[in-house]
Amino acid sequence: MTAPNPRILPYGEAAIAEAAALIAAGGCVATPTETVYGLAADATNADAVAGIYAAKGRPAFNPLIVHVADRRAAEAIAMFDRDARALADAFWPGPLTLVLPLRPDAPIAGLVTAGLTTVAIRVPQHRAMQALLAATGKPLAAPSANASGSISPTRAAHVAASLGDRIPLIIDDGATSGGIESTIVAVGAQPRLLRPGPVSAEAIEREIGRWLGAAGEAIEAPGQLASHYAPRKPLRLNATEARDGEWLIGFGAVGGDDTLSAKGDLTEAAARLFDALHRADASDRAAIAVAAVPEDGIGLAINDRLKRAATP
Ligand code: TXA
Ligand code: MG
Repeated sequence: MTAPNPRILPYGEAAIAEAAALIAAGGCVATPTETVYGLAADATNADAVAGIYAAKGRPAFNPLIVHVADRRAAEAIAMFDRDARALADAFWPGPLTLVLPLRPDAPIAGLVTAGLTTVAIRVPQHRAMQALLAATGKPLAAPSANASGSISPTRAAHVAASLGDRIPLIIDDGATSGGIESTIVAVGAQPRLLRPGPVSAEAIEREIGRWLGAAGEAIEAPGQLASHYAPRKPLRLNATEARDGEWLIGFGAVGGDDTLSAKGDLTEAAARLFDALHRADASDRAAIAVAAVPEDGIGLAINDRLKRAATP
């Protein structure tokens, strides 16, 4: 018999090796960072990222933060301008997340960025997350390791209480030193503070030599509708067949030009959603239709996203 989930292993070689094997197999693992415990999965594997949403029971897709070992790894994923380099030099490794243009060739799953052309990225300081990055050799997507709607976990016991047997493993390295999530700054023509956090706005302004736009003014404020990828074409929901000029995205028994999951698997559908929308937008058809997706589990998040993408 195997031990019940989640296993809680103290930080060390054995825990990191087991966690890296789970992540290589497409699973997700809770690990401390210097801010809060995160639920980490391979950011290049869409199915693995869908597993994060399934475990958290998130009713909507919010883009996730990608964690990498160092600035070099970050520059392979995102495009850095002068401000971004200055901030990375000053605050990485540490609790600062930069929102930067995603490199078109970056191997990041569309579900990580929720289809956006920008990516949130940080180099964490914590030894457990750093060891996991080294052992997997992958960029790791990690939101806070709590069920949707509950508070962020700063101890392994919080994670276990919140996610329980929905995850296989928690790396326990005691209470996190930070306790609140990283500061998020969108870099660009006018850098903006998207989420206040451990790195103060004043410290950031000192590095870049100008004022930050406030969080409230940010167009891409976290979780806001405007920040999400929307198809350019009209989109119709609950389709059972394609009408004239439509590109049909099927699900289960409803076939089409493409499918979210032919076998009706919701986790697979979540993993394929944003890529399918991009393919539909790029097709030669003038409109998009999408089959009904069950309002169940991660299906809630899929439908939330589809409703926002649909033509009212
Ligand atoms: O301290 C932290 O940042 C923790 C640890 C685990 O690293 N992670 C964390 O992740 O707080 P999460 O998923 O709970 O928060 C990510 C935030 C969300 O508010 C999301 O909207 C925003 O980052 N975000 C991610 N990508 C974005 C993007 N491309 N543009 C704007 N906001 C983005
Ligand atoms: Mg969170």
